[in-house]
Amino acid sequence: MASRNDAEKQLLEKARRYLPGGNGGNLTLPKELEFLASHGKGSQIYDVSGNAYVDWLMGSGPMILGHAHPAVTEAVVKAVENGSTFFTTNDKAVELAEELVSAIPCAEQVIFTTSGTDACFQAMRAARAFTGKEKVLKFEGAFHGTSDYALMSLTPPASVEYPQSLASSAGIPKAIEDLMLIAPYNDLATTENIIKAHQDDIAAVIVEPVQRVISPEPGFLQGLRDITKKYGVLLIFDEVVTSFRLAYGGAQEYFGVTPDMSTTGKIMGGGYPLAALAGRADVLSVYDRGASDDDSFINRIGTLNGNPVACAAGLATLNVMREKGTYERINSAGGAIRNALVDICKENGVPVQSCGEDAIFDVYFSELPVSNYRDTLSADADMMNRFNTRLLERGILKGAQKYYPSAVHTDADVEKTIQGIREVIPLVR
Ligand SMILES: Cc1ncc(COP(=O)(O)O)c(C=O)c1O
Repeated sequence: MASRNDAEKQLLEKARRYLPGGNGGNLTLPKELEFLASHGKGSQIYDVSGNAYVDWLMGSGPMILGHAHPAVTEAVVKAVENGSTFFTTNDKAVELAEELVSAIPCAEQVIFTTSGTDACFQAMRAARAFTGKEKVLKFEGAFHGTSDYALMSLTPPASVEYPQSLASSAGIPKAIEDLMLIAPYNDLATTENIIKAHQDDIAAVIVEPVQRVISPEPGFLQGLRDITKKYGVLLIFDEVVTSFRLAYGGAQEYFGVTPDMSTTGKIMGGGYPLAALAGRADVLSVYDRGASDDDSFINRIGTLNGNPVACAAGLATLNVMREKGTYERINSAGGAIRNALVDICKENGVPVQSCGEDAIFDVYFSELPVSNYRDTLSADADMMNRFNTRLLERGILKGAQKYYPSAVHTDADVEKTIQGIREVIPLVR
């Protein structure tokens, strides 16, 4: 287990004093393993005491080229020397907008935001402004950031009946329950029934094409496309995670289904605060003062929207993503861990369900197949916590329920991780 030097111990003390819960609110680590990241290089991150971790968290997705990639660092340094932000439209944002439109199948235009939360929030608002309807259907257990709307039915008890929504956070007005409808992911029949019954009120369906790490069943996304068209409802893909990861054109390219709008973030910002909403030009005209009347115009002012330094990082990242072999390396590292994880569980008699794609995946420790949120409730979540903790003790860092392979994970990283899994599974079963 990693040891902590005095400097890190003191900083951890300060974290407990100055941050609620003693942390930044993203990844919560067991107290005895808590560390403060100080720097990262390639596939490794280092704590203040100098301990190295093989990083499968990768900043929760953006660092698909690894930490401090030289091409991205160079682009950022160059951009920073020219000023940090202007509040006028900048050249880098226009260049990145052009690249997003050429890459993302549904994109005719884009607007920039500083987070995936804001991009998803804007997507729902744009759908309301464009259609004049107020409700949005989301899938139970899907995460679209932390707006009041997005946090409905993220982790509800299984007793809530569809399409009733329930806030998964304190502080959300009760009235939001009337505006969000909830359906089970991968269940087209139930989804269609809900849309049919509420078609006059539903502006949009928002879906993570791969919900957390659960892949869509064959025909599910195409079915959603068909149903939404049939009932005059907009379809939004939340591709904050999947864009530029599953393929350069995201889940839309990978699964061959084109929504009306999609959100992107993480990779396209190269590790900087940047995200975007992309979509049909007629829908995004709600952001164009000249094309909208007072009833349909959306004000989207944001101090750092389309920040030039973040856009430079995004452009540099996408340049490397387009290089030959990048996706092969990501999928090969991910595929190796995925297969080994399942094999090792099976060798040890641990019930396991493999979920996701090689570029984004995890397992659930469960006897039953997992195709939606309620299925995940029967998995052994305590065992997953113990598993993650024991891996961390061995210098292997992953998210609570997700691996983010990158283009820079080496064979040695993969071997170390598989060895760790081999040691840990018998200890936590
Ligand atoms: C699918 C999805 N949508 C939206 C978000 C929110 O993005 P952000 O954390 O940039 O606000 C996330 C964050 O992980 C996400 O996974």
